[in-house]
Amino acid sequence: MAVVKIPADNVTLTDARDVTTFLAARGIEYERWTPNQPLPADAPADAVLNAYSRQIETLKVRGGYVTADVIDVKADTPNLDTMLAKFNREHWHDEDEVRFIIEGRGLFHVNAGGSVFVLEVGPGDLIRVPRGTHHWFDLCAERRIRAIRLFQDISGWTPHYTDSGIDRGFQPLCFGPSYIGPMVHPPS
Ligand SMILES: [Fe+2]
Repeated sequence: MAVVKIPADNVTLTDARDVTTFLAARGIEYERWTPNQPLPADAPADAVLNAYSRQIETLKVRGGYVTADVIDVKADTPNLDTMLAKFNREHWHDEDEVRFIIEGRGLFHVNAGGSVFVLEVGPGDLIRVPRGTHHWFDLCAERRIRAIRLFQDISGWTPHYTDSGIDRGFQPLCFGPSYIGPMVHPPS
């Protein structure tokens, strides 16, 4: 279940409806997906794509995505730090960043017009970050993520760095599955 934190306002959103509404207002689509059939933890990529084929096909039509794959990152993945260093600085893409998390956790920082919020995603979370959105990404402490990715054009999925330096002002701290924080809501 995704968690949103707005550091400048000292606000944390953990309720699904609050998270969905907050993200939608900033152009980011958030959904929860459940597999069409039981999915073993060690299921191969083909089985993963098959288990979510209905949702994937629906999203392809809606967003013009032409292909889907499964990315699998573990703490012992070779050159993991080099891979992560490409995405932990503020950047944007020419196409949407679409991720459905199967295992593990990740932390997106999103710069929405100068106001930065943090989105932690975990298993069952689908997010669709529109093209052009300024963001950066970190793994959580266990350095594990397995996710379905959808692409409009694989060749277009290149980070364009802003070099704003804004990312250096934020610690990539995940809340964790056991996080129990106060239910704080933003002022309406
Ligand atoms: Fe990105």
